[in-house]
Amino acid sequence: MQPLLVVILAAGKGTRMKSARPKVLHPLAGRSLLGHAMALSREGGATRLAVVVGPGMPQVAEEARRYAVDAAVFVQHQQLGTAHAVLAARDAIASHTGDVCVLFADTPLLTPDTVHRLRDSLGKGSGMAVLGFHAADPTGYGRLLTDAAGSLIAIREDRDASDAERKVTLCNSGVMAFRTPKLVSILERIGNANAKQEYYLTDAVEIARKEGLPVVASTCTEDEVLGINSRDQLAAAEAIWQRRARLKVMRDGATLVAPETVWLSYDTLIGRDVVIEPNVVIGPGVTIEDDVVIKANCHLQGIDRKVSTGVRVRKGAEIGPFARLRPGTDIGSKVHIGNFVEVKNATLDEGAKANHLAYIGDAHVGADANIGAGTITCNYDGFDKGHTEIGAGAFIGSNTALVAPVTIGANAFVGAGSVVSRRDVEPGALTVVRGERKDIPGWAAKIRAAVAKRIAEKK
Ligand code: UD1
Ligand code: CA
Repeated sequence: MQPLLVVILAAGKGTRMKSARPKVLHPLAGRSLLGHAMALSREGGATRLAVVVGPGMPQVAEEARRYAVDAAVFVQHQQLGTAHAVLAARDAIASHTGDVCVLFADTPLLTPDTVHRLRDSLGKGSGMAVLGFHAADPTGYGRLLTDAAGSLIAIREDRDASDAERKVTLCNSGVMAFRTPKLVSILERIGNANAKQEYYLTDAVEIARKEGLPVVASTCTEDEVLGINSRDQLAAAEAIWQRRARLKVMRDGATLVAPETVWLSYDTLIGRDVVIEPNVVIGPGVTIEDDVVIKANCHLQGIDRKVSTGVRVRKGAEIGPFARLRPGTDIGSKVHIGNFVEVKNATLDEGAKANHLAYIGDAHVGADANIGAGTITCNYDGFDKGHTEIGAGAFIGSNTALVAPVTIGANAFVGAGSVVSRRDVEPGALTVVRGERKDIPGWAAKIRAAVAKRIAEKK
């Protein structure tokens, strides 16, 4: 296989998003549109990546480098058309020997398979290939004009098309592949004598034919090339992406009781015989091992801007209902995390249980420890975070505050309602930290009599 340079066009501002952030940085399944385009390029065989960004978009360049340190970033200073945009990456194209593929950064549903197919359609010699699709409503798209033998003659933009050409439903997706050393010269010969006075990449078809290059069209489904220009299209793409991902998870052996209510991320890993009940949201960085049960209404998120160590739920653990797992959480095998329990940056070893109403943050919980309802690890004093260590087999009574940094020894007991701070609890000990109980027999009757007397005197 030839080396492949993929040029990703990301210069559009995306004004229809009505957003302070560039369009290609909006997330889909927990990753930016640009991130999707770069990942699918890599999986589609890219050995080099070039990203064309608009002026004043340092965040887009940064995002490009986050996904591929070696990506070449080019700035297209003025948006003069798709051919002009590709030429912004002239240095990368001119120094490349091998295939070049162009795609748009706002088309995240394209599959690597389709990119491979498009390249395969280039054949042995030189050539150019265009990815087309049959549009339910072709309005606005460039139309693929073919001859009687079915080979591609030209692409006509909607605004420049005749009435007869507008009736064609085979449309240009924008994705193209080239196998020719003449690509730069072809691009340079594209003019802007058209309705939009833009340099259209689509005009490369006619120029390539004049050069004697075979030009072929290959097709994919309309879903795959859904371009995102607005928030409603973003939501539509998310829906398609989620449907695909859920199907894959189920085909790989997990049960989703109500698949349409489970939200996955681009990097979610789910093992076999996992059961996920309705209304579960899984953010980026989550791994769920075999035989885990995630009960209804849970939120799991492994990565945020600060912590990027992920969430792992090990074999046979049970989570929820109504549990929240945050970044840096490692749930051991057969651990039970019950309702209204939040876990952050904590490791729970095999068989530990926190069945109700608890916050476990910046902590290590040993095997088979039992965390009672209402237990809080007080990990933050307003300035610094502190660590809580709970030994194996320890029993933390209900409504306990563990003020970090603090250690509860293995097999120790903490009495309900305790506030444990400063000193560690020895292994095997009992600690009870609460006001002493006082009982006064007959006190209720006495107080009632006294109050009754006072009321009678007032009358
Ligand atoms: C383009 C195609 C059209 C195709 C459609 C598919 C051309 C001339 N037309 O039309 O045949 O059916 O996509 O969605 O190629 N861009 C730049 N710099 C520019 C201009 C565009 O980076 O100067 C980027 C945009 O950010 C966008 C992409 O190229 O991601 C496509 O540009 P856009 O103006 O949306 O082209 P369309 O009119 O949709
Ligand atoms: Ca467009």
